[in-house]
Amino acid sequence: MEEERFITSTKIADDKALDATLRPKTLNEYVGQDKIKSNLKVFIEASKKRHEALDHVLLYGPPGLGKTTLSHIIATELGVQIRITSGPSIERAGDLAAILTNLNENDVLFVDEIHRLNRAVEEILYPAMEDYALDIVIGKGPSARSMRLDLPRFTLIGATTRAGMLTGPLRDRFGVICRLEMYSPEDLAVIVKRSAGILDIDLTREAAVEISRRSRGTPRIANRLLKRVRDFAEVERNGKVDTDLCKHALDLLEVDSLGLDYNDRKYLAAVMQKFEGGPVGLDTVASAINEEAVTIEDVIEPYLLQLGFIARTPRGRVCLPAAYRHMGLTPKTATGEQLGFKE
Ligand SMILES: Nc1ncnc2c1ncn2[C@@H]1O[C@H](COP(=O)(O)OP(=O)(O)OP(=O)(O)O)[C@@H](O)[C@H]1O
Ligand SMILES: [Mg+2]
Repeated sequence: MEEERFITSTKIADDKALDATLRPKTLNEYVGQDKIKSNLKVFIEASKKRHEALDHVLLYGPPGLGKTTLSHIIATELGVQIRITSGPSIERAGDLAAILTNLNENDVLFVDEIHRLNRAVEEILYPAMEDYALDIVIGKGPSARSMRLDLPRFTLIGATTRAGMLTGPLRDRFGVICRLEMYSPEDLAVIVKRSAGILDIDLTREAAVEISRRSRGTPRIANRLLKRVRDFAEVERNGKVDTDLCKHALDLLEVDSLGLDYNDRKYLAAVMQKFEGGPVGLDTVASAINEEAVTIEDVIEPYLLQLGFIARTPRGRVCLPAAYRHMGLTPKTATGEQLGFKE
């Protein structure tokens, strides 16, 4: 399912090569997220001055907003090595112990999808993060002894799309917690322009704006749309990308004026028509549109929330008036205001 979705903000194979070329390498090249950048600059500078490892950093936010990119940048700015792993790929406590003992002083250990660490592995991580120590048990049964090994000082950077799924003790061990925000169309236009420069695409300013508007606040989607639009430009117009061509290409790709695709519209239409605009529970909508609940929560809903199209309430999901206007439907049910939500 996920693989078929063109506008998806999660990764598809095609992105890998693209990611490497378009990924900014320094904080100055990293567009937007100004608050996070200015804080990080201070923390990085301070830790370099003290010749100490940077405090552990947790990056969270929807897919494709630049968590992996930022982790690499932090390591580069610190002038240290980055070791990359992910929650689901560390199966046993011993795997993590091996990674930790192989770090060099002040290195960055990047753990993607950190909410998916298993309990035994997570418990190794607590003393490692707090005291740079590894507690190991030698032997079995009555003769077993526990020993504490010193680890090099290091910075753990954890990335997750679901901060809510992190356990309290793990979350508490991060000194720096950054929530990545969806990008403004202005920031996305800068990213699109930059990418067009790198990929040698002849693109007008207005065309960059058009692509940004339809990229759901997400750099990964902006880069992907740019690439698809370029295909149309090469086949249909000698390579020049202007607004008309963007509109033409994106319409053909069924990405609407706000960047909603078939799945977003299917979700909205289901809530509006089958459930009279809500409130409706997540699992109920999920089975109505034959989509997984996690996909709805991680991929579809963040942008609709951002647009003020839906609200998450204790009794379920509710469609707000702006969504009805966009879909060209009339609310059959109460408006957001009546339900006590601002648009
Ligand atoms: N601030 C930014 N400035 C410029 N380009 C960016 C920025 N953030 C992300 N990108 C681009 O978007 C792509 C996707 O970013 P990245 O892989 O870091 O996202 P992610 O948050 O790690 O996603 P996931 O949750 O799926 O792992 C990058 O390859 C990069 O080209
Ligand atoms: Mg990532």
